[in-house]
Amino acid sequence: MGAVSISDVRKSYGNVEVLHGVSIDIEDGEFVILVGPSGCGKSTLLRMIAGLEDVTSGKISIGGRVVNELAPKDRDIAMVFQSYALYPHMTVEQNMGFSLMLQRASKEDVRKRVAAAAAILGLQPYLARYPRHLSGGQRQRVAMGRAIVRNPAAFLFDEPLSNLDAKLRVQMRSEIKQNHQRLKTTTVYVTHDQIEAMTMADRIVVMHDGVIEQIGTPLELYDSPANLFVAGFIGSPGMNMLDGTIADGNFVAAGGVTIPLPTHHSTYIGKRMTLGIRPEHFRLDVNGAVAEIITVEPTGSETHIVARFANQEIVGAFRERITASPGEEIRISPEGDAIHLFDGETGKRIAR
Ligand SMILES: Nc1ncnc2c1ncn2[C@@H]1O[C@H](COP(=O)(O)OP(=O)(O)O)[C@@H](O)[C@H]1O
Ligand SMILES: [Mg+2]
Repeated sequence: MGAVSISDVRKSYGNVEVLHGVSIDIEDGEFVILVGPSGCGKSTLLRMIAGLEDVTSGKISIGGRVVNELAPKDRDIAMVFQSYALYPHMTVEQNMGFSLMLQRASKEDVRKRVAAAAAILGLQPYLARYPRHLSGGQRQRVAMGRAIVRNPAAFLFDEPLSNLDAKLRVQMRSEIKQNHQRLKTTTVYVTHDQIEAMTMADRIVVMHDGVIEQIGTPLELYDSPANLFVAGFIGSPGMNMLDGTIADGNFVAAGGVTIPLPTHHSTYIGKRMTLGIRPEHFRLDVNGAVAEIITVEPTGSETHIVARFANQEIVGAFRERITASPGEEIRISPEGDAIHLFDGETGKRIAR
């Protein structure tokens, strides 16, 4: 009953429109992540779902009920913010139970529901502690516990891990995902971090300047980005982009490097195009084009090579342990069936 439907929603502050008509259908139980650069409108959209911002136009429904005019407390959602906003003078148990007390739940009911949430989150040993005696990760868990006890139709998260250090972020990512697998509560989660989006989401919504660029599963976005923006945003190190034109079944990049294409694109011959190739899709090839090495980064599992290729800097990720030095040349070629082609004018992806 926790489906969330967002239909042609717009938001203006004064006469500045910051969301230009976004539509997303989120299924009951789905974990959807809104991702995009800072300022693209993620928090604004989430706050409109929560009822903390008015909707300028369009429709939002939760569990089949239009909520545009409903107060936040009547929407059956629970929100977790980046700043956990725990009450410092209350224990973990009191923090987690507070919203239930406000709803006049019985003491016994509050105790039971807090205990169940604490068990899910591994917080039982800390129930009597005050927030100042908890680590950042434990505080974040309490903030989630407060949301869980209410058993809402949907959880809304706004950058909940931004205040944590890198190691804890990875651990909490996994915890939030496991909790979702247990609870199966519809979740809308905002982050600017594409790795967070890729590792946690059932589906990702990529936003940019107040519009949706693409909606898809993590691997759909990675394998078939709809345009140059998504191609560049998803993946790390990022996709390499080479400008050039198509001629005779080849892509001709700057400096005259020709890359054979798996498909003939007769309608695009002579047009300005961008070829995208992910770092792991270069291979060492004695018949390939020359790449002049700038740096070699051994990560252990693979070797990352930054090199000058077709007059531009590219990154290649190789399974081989390459011991070449800066200034030396290697020969590489892109794997044909992993090549992406984008229209040079619109930035839209064309079929391979
Ligand atoms: N209360 C406000 N008044 C005016 N402009 C705002 C307000 N809140 C957000 N904005 C603007 O709306 C845009 C989207 O902001 P926001 O949703 O916070 O982005 P994100 O969460 O993706 O970083 C930004 O350009 C921001 O400056
Ligand atoms: Mg934000």
